[in-house]
This record gives sequence, structure tokens and C-alpha cells, in this order.
Amino acid sequence: MELTSPDAVTAALASTGYLADDDLATVVFLSASMQRPLLLEGEPGTGKTALAEALAELTGTPLIRLQCYEGIDASQALYDWDFARQILHLRTLEAAAASRAPGEGAFDAGEAEKSLFDERFLLARPVLQALRQAPAVLLVDEVDRADDEFEAFLLEVLSSWSVSIPELGTVVAATPPLVVLTSNRTRELHDALKRRCLYHWIDHPGLAREVAIVRSRLPEVSEQLAEQVATVVQGLRTEHLLKAPGVAETLDWARALQRLGAEELDLDTASRTLGTVVKYREDTDRVKQALDRMLAG
Ligand SMILES: Nc1ncnc2c1ncn2[C@@H]1O[C@H](COP(=O)(O)OP(=O)(O)O)[C@@H](O)[C@H]1O
Ligand SMILES: [Mg+2]
Repeated sequence: MELTSPDAVTAALASTGYLADDDLATVVFLSASMQRPLLLEGEPGTGKTALAEALAELTGTPLIRLQCYEGIDASQALYDWDFARQILHLRTLEAAAASRAPGEGAFDAGEAEKSLFDERFLLARPVLQALRQAPAVLLVDEVDRADDEFEAFLLEVLSSWSVSIPELGTVVAATPPLVVLTSNRTRELHDALKRRCLYHWIDHPGLAREVAIVRSRLPEVSEQLAEQVATVVQGLRTEHLLKAPGVAETLDWARALQRLGAEELDLDTASRTLGTVVKYREDTDRVKQALDRMLAG
């Protein structure tokens, strides 16, 4: 599907079950047409990762995911050498040389070393895979978990769309991949990386869109139940909880109620299924009070 306008993006995303608002559709369109990485920030569960998945689906290209974590470095993002297989290869060469008759060619350490840094022993990690396989969607997920140095490395790759492997040469992407970076904003990212990207803050959806998301993801849930769940979750988001429920929790809750055969959300079923929505003990009391207010009577 072609991403020729914001409206086309909206329609294409919707065909995968992802419902974007106009601002998000516009920034996705611009990111694709300007070939600029898209940086999505927002609370957990607002559809950041799902957007990259939807983009891969609708463009019919592979989704290549780089999950960031504390301490991740370039070798986990780009490539590594398969040390164990290199050693085996070396042993084989040595054994072959030893079994040859004198004068038939001794072990050549220089040649052996060269043969170690061959494509066969290269472990391509997500960023290298994305450059080689493009067109593709590269998802750099939760980049706020990585450190400064890793951000600088990413910036370099996202600016040049190329990677140099000293032993093999430079890999340049034939087409730049669509890149989506996500951050749950546990720390502020650097200006340089932000400058390279188009930026969008994803908010929790409004009531109408959240109901539509539930209907789109869980067609088996009735309209009435979807509306009740989304309404209560929207209410809970104003309660200053330690962890406000995201769309993921709304979907879980609706799914749980549907499994229990509940036709509507009353105080009793809500209390029994709280574990799908509330993940911090400290939030439980506040949520119970809020439910009393919203569902009593
Ligand atoms: N706009 C949306 N349209 C459809 N599904 C959505 C939307 N936003 C969130 N979801 C769903 O909510 C869940 C959580 O989304 P996810 O992408 O994991 O959140 P994040 O990466 O922001 O933490 C997923 O199941 C996702 O499919
Ligand atoms: Mg995510």
C-alpha cells in the first residue's frame, strides 16, 4: 500500500487494525516521504510499538526489531563475529595443514586469519539486517533504556544509512528503511538524536477512539462492554495512579470480561478482574474508590 497522503496512511493503518488520529497519520506520512526516522514518545501502552508493527504489515516489508536495554552496545545492534565457529574453522585449517606431507604447504597463519573474517562468520544484528534488507521497517524500541553512547551510535547510522565493517567493507542501504524509535521517556533523549528525527508525542486515545480500538482488536466484545470498559479506564487515567492504565490494559480488561461471559461492567465483575488493569498494589485502594464512584448504583 502506498503512503501517499496522511489520509492514505490513516486508511492503510486502519486496514491492519491500528487506529491513528490525524496528527499521528500526518507525521507517519512525513517520515516516510522525507525518509526521516520517526521518534514516538508516550506513556507505556499508547500504541508506539504497535505502530511499527502495523507499518511493516501494511508495507509488506519485514519488521526488524532492536529492543534496547541498559548496557546495549554497537555489537548487539550491528554485528558480531561468531567466535566459536571461527575457532572451529581455525582448528580445521590447522588439522588439515598438519596432515599434509612436508613440503605440501605448511600452515599459513596470515591466510588463516584472513579467512576468519568472512561473511560466513558474521552475525548480522538488527541494524545491519535492516540496512541490507531494506525496504524494511526498523523498530528501535525503548531507546530511553540505552545509554548516551548508544544514542550517538544510532545517530551516526540513522544519518548515513551505512555501516562500515573494517574486515568486509561498507554496507549501504539501497533504500533507507522506515525507522521508528520509541521511548517511554524514562529519561530525556539528546537533542542531536531528536533533531535527526520527526517527533510525535502519543497520548492516550480519547473515548471514541479507544472504543473503536477495542472494537477493532476484539470484534467479539460487544459495543456496550467496549464502551463501558473504555469509559472507566478513561476515568482511571485522571486518578493520578502510579501507573495509569494504557490501551493494552483496556484490551486485557475487555478480553477478561468477555471470557467471564460478563455482558456489562458492574462493580462486582470490575473488582474481580482488577488484575488486568491495576499492576501496583499502591494503586488498588484508589482504583477501588474510583470504581465505587463510577459504577455504584
Ligand atoms: N491506536 C491503536 N490502534 C489499535 N491498537 C492499539 C492502538 N494503540 C494501542 N493499541 C494496542 O494496545 C496495545 C499496547 O500497545 P503498544 O504498542 O504495546 O504500546 P507501547 O509500545 O506504546 O507501550 C497493543 O496491543 C496495541 O495493539
Ligand atoms: Mg512498546
